[in-house]
Amino acid sequence: MNPEYAAHQGRLRIRPLERGDLEPLRLARNDAVYARFLTPMPEVSAEQQRAWYEAYLEDGDVLIWGIEDEARGVFVGATALFRFRPKRSGGAAAARASSKKPPCCEAGKTLILPGEAGRGFATRGKILTMAIGFKVLGMEKMDTHVEAENIASLRSTQRCGFTADPRPPKKTGGKGGYFTITKAEFLKLHPQLRDVAIWKV
Ligand SMILES: CC(C)(COP(=O)(O)OP(=O)(O)OC[C@H]1O[C@@H](n2cnc3c(N)ncnc32)[C@H](O)[C@@H]1OP(=O)(O)O)[C@@H](O)C(=O)NCCC(=O)NCCS
Repeated sequence: MNPEYAAHQGRLRIRPLERGDLEPLRLARNDAVYARFLTPMPEVSAEQQRAWYEAYLEDGDVLIWGIEDEARGVFVGATALFRFRPKRSGGAAAARASSKKPPCCEAGKTLILPGEAGRGFATRGKILTMAIGFKVLGMEKMDTHVEAENIASLRSTQRCGFTADPRPPKKTGGKGGYFTITKAEFLKLHPQLRDVAIWKV
């Protein structure tokens, strides 16, 4: 499902994923070396990518933002919030059953186009989605999982303020694993977000 909110800070804007983003994302996704840390899948055709997008628009449990470098007016990648708990579409009973737990979700599924990597877009884009999650969507906590060998993602995760979560069993050894952050920790770490522009699209 596309997000209802967009945000802007500095030269960066995040807004709902558009059909025009699909082809550059598909090409990056099909680059086996580049996408080695994403869910493995055979080469994606343009038709499959369009079908994926239509299914995504109906999926209430994942919100994907396109990241734009406003200074150059270009799309540079995408990032998401997903796996919302309590479930957003689980009905009142499901919401009541898990209402003792603070609302939380995962942050990730980030992909920056190969030609745009290394300029801070992943970190700053993710921070903006997290600002929307914490300030507008009512999240109290976020988690993320990073592969042990994905150094750029690991570094970006730390820059966003996530710290290692010792509770869930580690899927990966070494420097990988689960990371977590609370709303209070996030807002303390990123005081500049007091002025972030967030609006309904
Ligand atoms: C991982 C990924 C999202 C990072 O995007 P990015 O825009 O290049 O990341 P940033 O520019 O925000 O960099 C984050 C940090 O990693 C560092 N970094 C980036 N590439 C690096 C590399 N190849 N080796 C070591 N450090 C690297 C940056 O210097 C930065 O650290 P700093 O803030 O201390 O300088 C991008 O490489 C990508 O899309 N990879 C393929 C898909 C993927 O693995 N997604 C993550 C899984 S959800």
